[in-house]
Amino acid sequence: MVAVAILAAGRGSRMKSQLPKVLHPLGGSSLVERVLSCAESVQPQRRLVIVGFGGEQVQQALSHLPAIEFVEQAQQLGTGHAIQQVMPYLQGFEGSLLVLNGDVPLLRSQTLMSLLQTHETHGNAATILTAQMPDPKGYGRVFCDGQNIVTQIVEDRDCTPAQRQNRRVNAGIYCFDWQALTQVLPTLQANNQQQEYYITDAVNFLSPVMAVDVEDHQEIFGINDRKQLATASQILQNRIKDDWMRAGVTLIDPDSITIDDAVQLAPDLVIEPQTHLRGQTKIGSGCRIGPGSLVENSQIGENVTLLYSVVSDSQVAANCRIGPYAHLRGDAEVGAGCRIGNFVELKQAQLGERTNVAHLSYLGDASLGNQVNVGAGTITANYDGVKKHRTQIGDRSKTGSNTVLVAPITIGQDVTIAAGSTLTEDVPDDCLVVARARQVVKPGWRLKPIE
Ligand code: UD1
Ligand code: CA
Repeated sequence: MVAVAILAAGRGSRMKSQLPKVLHPLGGSSLVERVLSCAESVQPQRRLVIVGFGGEQVQQALSHLPAIEFVEQAQQLGTGHAIQQVMPYLQGFEGSLLVLNGDVPLLRSQTLMSLLQTHETHGNAATILTAQMPDPKGYGRVFCDGQNIVTQIVEDRDCTPAQRQNRRVNAGIYCFDWQALTQVLPTLQANNQQQEYYITDAVNFLSPVMAVDVEDHQEIFGINDRKQLATASQILQNRIKDDWMRAGVTLIDPDSITIDDAVQLAPDLVIEPQTHLRGQTKIGSGCRIGPGSLVENSQIGENVTLLYSVVSDSQVAANCRIGPYAHLRGDAEVGAGCRIGNFVELKQAQLGERTNVAHLSYLGDASLGNQVNVGAGTITANYDGVKKHRTQIGDRSKTGSNTVLVAPITIGQDVTIAAGSTLTEDVPDDCLVVARARQVVKPGWRLKPIE
């Protein structure tokens, strides 16, 4: 049996933020969400999140995840004190307790699984994850004998100058035999520089405690301030982009591109510079995305080009050309082979196949059929100041330049709308509609000269 406890009660004062540290976002999810999703790899029976500072906010932010038990640590008296709060919850529990730091978000599932495995095969009282850090400043230092048996963990601030030379650091990730830990938890003392109860002291009282080095020290990078958050984001981005390049995605100037880890990309896809792919986004093969584009929570089919454009919460079918400077948002759905051009905004608009909206248009709350041609400057007047109304346009219809469609309105199929028309009433199939004042020419008319 495995239970997981995540330390997430600290204020994170070095972040200088109203937002609890563990809720700061990294690559599309919060720090604590990342830790939780990594913990899933060991299939825990129990998931406890220890909350304190901003506890309600943390609970709220995780309310979409089932089966989490929140443990309140009213006063943050240290990481050991935090684990003490778990005791009433795990009474009678037998097995391993995996303790994870809510601010160590880059851990790989594989690492956690092998930590647990080492712990169980050796029958250790505790097994802790360590790393050889090039810059160990700020981390607890771990001292071992030749067999990786831990003799002592000393916090950075409690180290002697000689101890500080040790680059082997505590990752803040531990696997405990729960029964053994319950024996020592009540005996923790706060006699250290911070006057806190340290979980690392529990480690000092247990035996045997084994240390396991993580292969890639970047995995245990902890976040205490904004600079470290930025570094973590860089590490994560490099990981994600390296994976996609290995999977057959071309990234031009990868340093200028960001990709959230939930994004799914097909091979033979080109991502151009200054492009950002976020959230639950999926892009098909043969696409050329960017330069200068943002795609979030959107699905894009095969062979689409998207140039200097923003697509949010929308869907684009295969073979479309989008941009430059298009904005698709709020459930826009673009059918196959469409062209959405310069300075066009689509909101809650569904377009059939091979429909063109090439220049300077706003289509909001609209349904367009197949092969519709929307003339430059066509606008749906969808809002009457109180409510939004829908516009419908049938197959093969054409709107002239500068058409205003005052919704609610339905335009039939094969309709031609004269340029400059303002339409306020429905239009049947197969006709020409002109809705503008006729041009008047007055021969010989001149301005009277001023006397
Ligand atoms: C801790 C470890 C250190 C390790 C480092 C790795 C201790 C004493 N030290 O130091 O050995 O190298 O992590 O990143 O454990 N928290 C609570 N309640 C509290 C205090 C903290 O839940 O009362 C939570 C924090 O929200 C955070 C985690 O515990 O998620 C670690 O706390 P932090 O203060 O950042 O510890 P470090 O000084 O980084
Ligand atoms: Ca920390």
